[in-house]
Amino acid sequence: MKKGQFLLLPWLLIFGCAAPYDPLGDYEALDATTILDAPKPEPGSYAPANRGQVERGEYLVELLGCGVCHTEGALNGNALTELSLAGSKIGIAYTNPLEHRYPGVVYPPNITPDAETGIGSWSDQQIADAIRSGIGDHGDRTISVMPWQGYAGISDEDLAALVSYLRSIKPVRNRTPDAVPPGTQAPRPYVHFGIYRSR
Ligand code: HEC
Repeated sequence: MKKGQFLLLPWLLIFGCAAPYDPLGDYEALDATTILDAPKPEPGSYAPANRGQVERGEYLVELLGCGVCHTEGALNGNALTELSLAGSKIGIAYTNPLEHRYPGVVYPPNITPDAETGIGSWSDQQIADAIRSGIGDHGDRTISVMPWQGYAGISDEDLAALVSYLRSIKPVRNRTPDAVPPGTQAPRPYVHFGIYRSR
C-alpha cells in the first residue's frame, strides 16, 4: 500500500461508518416479466377418470401464478423451467426493508411431490390448508408472503383440482433455504414486493 493510500484509510473508515443508512442502496430494479407454463402432468400419475380434474388444476396453477414465486429464477425474470414449481433460492422479504436493514426473508418452497424436499409426504388436507388458509409447516407463523387471502374463496372443487394436479407432476429434488428471521442478514438475494412511498 502506498503512503498516500495509507493516510486515506482512517478517513474512509470514519466517513464510511458515518454514512447514513440508505434503505434502497442495495436494491436494483427488476423487469421480471416472464410468462410461465405450469409443468405437464406425468403420464400415468393419475387415474384416467381424474384427467379433467388434473387439467383443471394445471389451468388454475397457470392462472393463479403459483410458478412466479415457486420456480427458481422466476422472481428476477430468469425462470429455470426444469425447476418449475420446485422452489426458489431467491427469497421474498416479509418485513419492511425501509424500516429494518435486514428484513425477514422466506424462500418459496418446493411444491412438487418430492417426498424429501417437496410436498410429497403432505396429506391432501395439509396442501389444501396451505393454499386456502395459509397454514403451512412453518412453526406457529401463518404463511406471510403467499397471497393465500386471495385464494381463500376458492371452491372445494377447484381446491381438489389444485391438489390433484400438484400430485401429478414430476417430483423434483430441490431443497430451498430456511427462512431468515428479521434482524439477520440474508445470505442470498431477495425481492421485496409493494414498496410504497406516500410523498
Ligand atoms: C407471491 C408468491 C407466491 C405465490 C404467487 C404463491 N406462493 Fe405458495 N408460498 C409462497 C411462500 C413464500 C411460501 C412459504 C410460506 C412462508 O414460509 O411464509 C409458500 C408456501 C406454499 C405451500 C406450503 C408448502 C411448504 O413447504 O411450506 C404450498 C402448498 C403453496 N405455497 C402452494 C401454492 C400454490 C398452489 C400457489 C398458486 C395457487 C401458490 N403457492 C402461489 C409464495 C407464493
